[in-house]
Amino acid sequence: MPEFDDVPVRLAIFISGRGSNMKTLVEACLAGDIPARPILILSNKYSAEGLEWATENGLPIAAIDHRAYDGDREAFEKDVQETLEMHDVEFIALAGFMRVLTPWFTEKWEGRMVNIHPSLLPKYPGLHTHKRAIEAGDKEAGCSVHWVTEGVDEGAVIDRETVPIKEGDTPESLAERVLEREHILYPRALNKAIEDFLDREEG
Ligand code: GRF
Repeated sequence: MPEFDDVPVRLAIFISGRGSNMKTLVEACLAGDIPARPILILSNKYSAEGLEWATENGLPIAAIDHRAYDGDREAFEKDVQETLEMHDVEFIALAGFMRVLTPWFTEKWEGRMVNIHPSLLPKYPGLHTHKRAIEAGDKEAGCSVHWVTEGVDEGAVIDRETVPIKEGDTPESLAERVLEREHILYPRALNKAIEDFLDREEG
């Protein structure tokens, strides 16, 4: 485990793939920019690239394959919840986690779970955000960090970053530029969210 200052919030980061946002968050915690300690990187895919980086960097990981649950989302989430309890997790950052969570889980973590979404919410919740923004003729795209509630990508927005859509942009070229902004946005927004959580805890 990397050395973290004695900070209060025990953070789990959920991923499904590459994990570039997760890496940015871990680095921001290490740099002391977020009053949290990443104590668990959890994935619903054993093959998630980000798990390798986490392991190489001494972070505890858990992989729980949702396919083993035959579509029973709550059964999957119960095992996730058990793992979180084992690690005394207090706050969750979803970072490219590609599973829709049921109300059973979102209610448990309301006010203690945030997500990054690659659009200027409330525009374009769900998938294929960049394609939809280009096809709509939008001049701007971007990314948002929001509190996670029952409705997919519907919780209150904490912060956003905007990116201009250029002539000739493809979903891929736009995704690349938005991702650069995600890496700036997420540490800033997670810091805000955790400060808010701590204020509520103390209040
Ligand atoms: C990001 O664009 C995120 O907004 C979206 O999925 C992508 C994950 O990228 N939900 P990474 O795994 O953080 O590199």
